Amino acid sequence: MNIRRMNEQDLEEVLLLEKELFSSPWNREHFLFELNENPFSLCLVGVIDDQIISASCAWIIYERAEISTIGVHKAYQRKGYAKEMLEMIHRYCASNGVNQIFLEVRVSNRPAIALYESFGYKVTKVRKNYYSDNHEDAYEMMAEVKNLVR
Ligand SMILES: CC(C)(COP(=O)(O)OP(=O)(O)OC[C@H]1O[C@@H](n2cnc3c(N)ncnc32)[C@H](O)[C@@H]1OP(=O)(O)O)[C@@H](O)C(=O)NCCC(=O)NCCS
Repeated sequence: MNIRRMNEQDLEEVLLLEKELFSSPWNREHFLFELNENPFSLCLVGVIDDQIISASCAWIIYERAEISTIGVHKAYQRKGYAKEMLEMIHRYCASNGVNQIFLEVRVSNRPAIALYESFGYKVTKVRKNYYSDNHEDAYEMMAEVKNLVR
């Protein structure tokens, strides 16, 4: 998988991927804000044979980062591509002075929780009724960059 920065020309494909993967997908305006206006945003796509099979955005805010979305096309799941994408984000964080990486995940999302745990992320908080679509709770998870499993 070739990982590169997301651009506006990617959005048709990225939006289809979002719809496939998430019950509350990000819309075009959301991605346009990340690409054009949010100075802290790092948005990446993973490409195989000219097809976008993975997308992720993170906010890098000085010594703290937050992974805001990550997804892998269903046909390509469980092949190590999310791991590759996270490793890329982790390397970017390590070389840009980030100490801690945070994220939120639905408490029912076992695949994602297992993915984060495999890198050493730990649950730091439960956020009650975090998701507006079904009022599900979120785990806030965090990893110290220096302790990330490589
Ligand atoms: C979560 C998600 C990104 C994982 O992508 P992926 O490319 O399939 O993950 P990887 O193949 O890189 O898996 C890496 C590790 O994560 C864990 N993992 C991933 N999918 C898993 C599953 N279905 N069940 C259990 N563990 C899983 C495993 O530890 C796995 O390592 P292993 O395969 O050696 O056991 C993918 O399932 C997805 O896009 N889900 C829908 C969107 C989503 O929920 N995103 C997260 C929002 S917080």
